[in-house]
Amino acid sequence: MILTASESESKGGAELLPSLIKRLQNLWYRRPVRTQILIAFLAVTVVTSLFACFLKVLDAGNRTRIEMRASMDLAESFVRETARSLLNETEARNLLQTLEAQLKHLRHVRIEVVRANGERGPSKNRPPQEPSNEREPASVPRWFIEMVRPPANRFNVPIRVENQPIATVLIQGEPSDEIAEVWNDYRTMLLLWIGTNLLMLSALYVVLGRILDPLVGLAGAMKRLEHGHSAVRVEPPKVRELRMIADHFNQLAAALDAVNAENSRLCRDLITVQEEERRQIASELHDEVGPCLFGIMVNASSIEQYAQPLPEKISSEIASRISEIRTISDRLKSINRRLLKKLRPIALGRITLKELITKLSTEFELRHPNIRFSTITNDLQLSYGESIDLTIYRCIQEGITNALRHANPKNIVVQLAHETITGPDGEAAYSQISLNIRDDGEGIRDPAPNGFGLATMRERVRALNGTFSLSGNWPSGTAIDITVPAGRSTGEKRLAAEFFGNRA
Ligand SMILES: Nc1ncnc2c1ncn2[C@@H]1O[C@H](COP(=O)(O)OP(=O)(O)O)[C@@H](O)[C@H]1O
Ligand SMILES: [Mg+2]
Repeated sequence: MILTASESESKGGAELLPSLIKRLQNLWYRRPVRTQILIAFLAVTVVTSLFACFLKVLDAGNRTRIEMRASMDLAESFVRETARSLLNETEARNLLQTLEAQLKHLRHVRIEVVRANGERGPSKNRPPQEPSNEREPASVPRWFIEMVRPPANRFNVPIRVENQPIATVLIQGEPSDEIAEVWNDYRTMLLLWIGTNLLMLSALYVVLGRILDPLVGLAGAMKRLEHGHSAVRVEPPKVRELRMIADHFNQLAAALDAVNAENSRLCRDLITVQEEERRQIASELHDEVGPCLFGIMVNASSIEQYAQPLPEKISSEIASRISEIRTISDRLKSINRRLLKKLRPIALGRITLKELITKLSTEFELRHPNIRFSTITNDLQLSYGESIDLTIYRCIQEGITNALRHANPKNIVVQLAHETITGPDGEAAYSQISLNIRDDGEGIRDPAPNGFGLATMRERVRALNGTFSLSGNWPSGTAIDITVPAGRSTGEKRLAAEFFGNRA
């Protein structure tokens, strides 16, 4: 489609407005609610206040005009009444001498006497040549004077004695006092308004904080709950409605905590039962199946010996069957061995933890020659007792199996180290075993699917008061980080010393 310049311009203009509105909306909704409410409050207050100021200025103008008018009317009628009753020139002169003094208390007017010979009498305030309504009160802003000042107004009252004009009294409006007064009122009102609004804004800020801060805390607690920290609780806020929400949240978290604890207990029971069952099956396989297979082989050998004196045809037939029995027995033996290894690391407690892990890794390596396995161990003790050794063994076994089964990696790295954690004073505070299993496979999609393998790992570690963290960086790589306190019971230490004494 070809657009002419004006078409494309109008189209651009039409698109500009919605995009501008969208950008403003984004900007607005990205602000915290507290800021939004404060801005809205401020905007409404400023608009209404500007309107109120405008009305007030109009009112001030009217007020000044009315005041001026009243004062000037009063002055004029006073001068006219007094002038009407004059009998002779002496009285008139006396009046002109005292007129200003008499009217000096009259506000908002300026009296000036111009005698018949053009001579001007003393003025009340200022030099007579300056027009009175151009005099501006000090400290009142010009814009205010311009808006409030009434139009210039003056009266001339002629003074006559026996029909002879002897002087003229000029009465002029003098709005500066009134404007200054109105400005003072206006300024006080403005300061009051600013003070009140600042106070209201501060109060609103505090109140909103008291309402919104607990909500933010609640959101954070919910996020923590979502990530499995069911021990999280929120401080009940002072606001009644929020306190109810917080109480319900705490009850929910407590219920979840209880369910999790029950779940953990069941899982640990399951692990214990599973380990026990595995141990029993392993010992059956070892103690029963092994000797049975041995018996079969021994019997097969003796049958072979008994068959030797028999005729050639029969003895060779028997020998071939015996060979088949041996092959089957060998296969059964290797299956038995493999099963035993899977069920329970037979060497557990007989070789060191380092050797046990290296052995496990080598077995995986033999079965998966295309994958590079790296096993790094640092400062390990010979053994940490059966429960810790078995947990580490099982975690590595499950971690590597998961990587092989789900991730198709090229490299698998297992790092196992004994770490001494120092306190703030530099003293050794406690020691722990740190295990990291990393692969560069496909990673885990978020959210991680639930499986028995990972749950079991987590529970095994939790049972030893350790920490477990899994980060599946989809689309590449998975990392499992485990720490387990390295403590061992005194009994276990003694046993290990006896067992590995000669190798320590
Ligand atoms: N190293 C890994 N790489 C990719 N995905 C993994 C890895 N470990 C676990 N997973 C994912 O997590 C899920 C749960 O694992 P797990 O609890 O061991 O159960 P299972 O192995 O029986 O499926 C797996 O099904 C898999 O999708
Ligand atoms: Mg698994």
